[in-house]
Amino acid sequence: MQLAAGKWQATIHGKMLRYGGNMLNDSIRYIAGRLKIDEVDLSDLARETPTYVYSLKRAVGNYRSIRDAFADLDAHIHYSAKANANLSILQALISEGAGIDAVSAGEAYRALQAGCEPEKVVFAGVGKRPDELRWAVEKGIGWFNVENVRELERLNDIGREMGKRTRVALRLNPDVTANTHPYIATGHGGAKFGLTADVVGEILRRQSDFPAVDFAGIHIHIGSQLGDTVATHTAVNTALHLISPYRHIRTVNIGGGLPVAYEEGKNLPTPREFAETLYPLLKDYSIILEPGRSIIADAGVLLTEVLYVKRQAGQRIIIVDASMTELIRPALYQARHAIVPLAQPSGELAPAEVVGPVCESSDTLGHAVPLPDVKSGDKLAILTAGAYGMVMASNYNARPRPAEIAVLQDGMSQKVARRRETLEDLVRLEQ
Ligand code: LLP
Repeated sequence: MQLAAGKWQATIHGKMLRYGGNMLNDSIRYIAGRLKIDEVDLSDLARETPTYVYSLKRAVGNYRSIRDAFADLDAHIHYSAKANANLSILQALISEGAGIDAVSAGEAYRALQAGCEPEKVVFAGVGKRPDELRWAVEKGIGWFNVENVRELERLNDIGREMGKRTRVALRLNPDVTANTHPYIATGHGGAKFGLTADVVGEILRRQSDFPAVDFAGIHIHIGSQLGDTVATHTAVNTALHLISPYRHIRTVNIGGGLPVAYEEGKNLPTPREFAETLYPLLKDYSIILEPGRSIIADAGVLLTEVLYVKRQAGQRIIIVDASMTELIRPALYQARHAIVPLAQPSGELAPAEVVGPVCESSDTLGHAVPLPDVKSGDKLAILTAGAYGMVMASNYNARPRPAEIAVLQDGMSQKVARRRETLEDLVRLEQ
């Protein structure tokens, strides 16, 4: 039997606790009491933990939904590799036609390794090094999102030297405040990102000073996990106003930021709502989208084993073998991820602090998580962990980074997309 969304709830000390049921989806849900990812029983993949598992079917499905939502516009999707740059994920999306948004030569290199054509890579970033720029021009990377005048001069010099013109979208800081967590807002005046409208205007008036640069677009990305479409609409308006005198600038890159539900009860705008809001403004332009989270977040889980349970200071503390080194989002952004057992619970739920073994008080994966009685050896899944999980993992406390397993698009076959690091890996680069 499949768990109906939102069916699980319990009242504890008069407080309503809701089970992570609504965070389940068509790929990650209980079937006959077992948590499955597509057709695969997650318990079969949880023999060693911590382990990330991704549904390529879900990732590709998310990609297609965004593509379909923007179908009335001339939209080009460049998956933002910073959300999860595992080659298996990049390959699956590239074969669907996605380009890649890369924020370093490293990500661009991954994109090329995964089979992306260089001209379908967008190279963004607030501080690209000269050697990265040179490498990218040499490779024929398709777009440079530029947010510094000096960077533009460097690109122009490199282009002249190599006899190549590079295609640029100037990144505007539209000075709007996105409705999101302050750590992931990027479009307000005080942010380090982008160029002010004045500077963009001035550069555009001086285009002929940069003969090796093709000014073909404008870029905005006002933040991640956007709570509404209003600020995006305002930002695009500002961008259009700036480029309107220049009829050859036909591309507007609206960045990423399509939100994902991590907890219940949040009313988040859908990709279609973004498309509908922007259609009147952008119907005569070519647009680029850089979604990351909305493609991969809910396609991934982090599997972990319960090491110990203790009761202390009136709390039930569940110590698991995953930590902030595998998933830093709760520690860094106070992010909430639903945590559920692999065996569908039938008993009472009670709140628990789910913590990792790292020597930091902030190493808590979930507060007041509604969970049944669990004991050492039980397995849990941390949901919606596909984006900004493994890519932000570290070796802090000399913890080897986890394995990543991809369940392929047939929903059954699996592959180790990245093997677990070993103790030897931890010292391999030192002498
Ligand atoms: N484009 C640009 C220029 C970006 O800076 C970002 C994200 C994206 C696209 C993709 O945004 P998305 O579609 O994934 O929202 N580590 C944080 C998120 C940082 C996002 C940084 N930039 C987190 O775990 O919430």
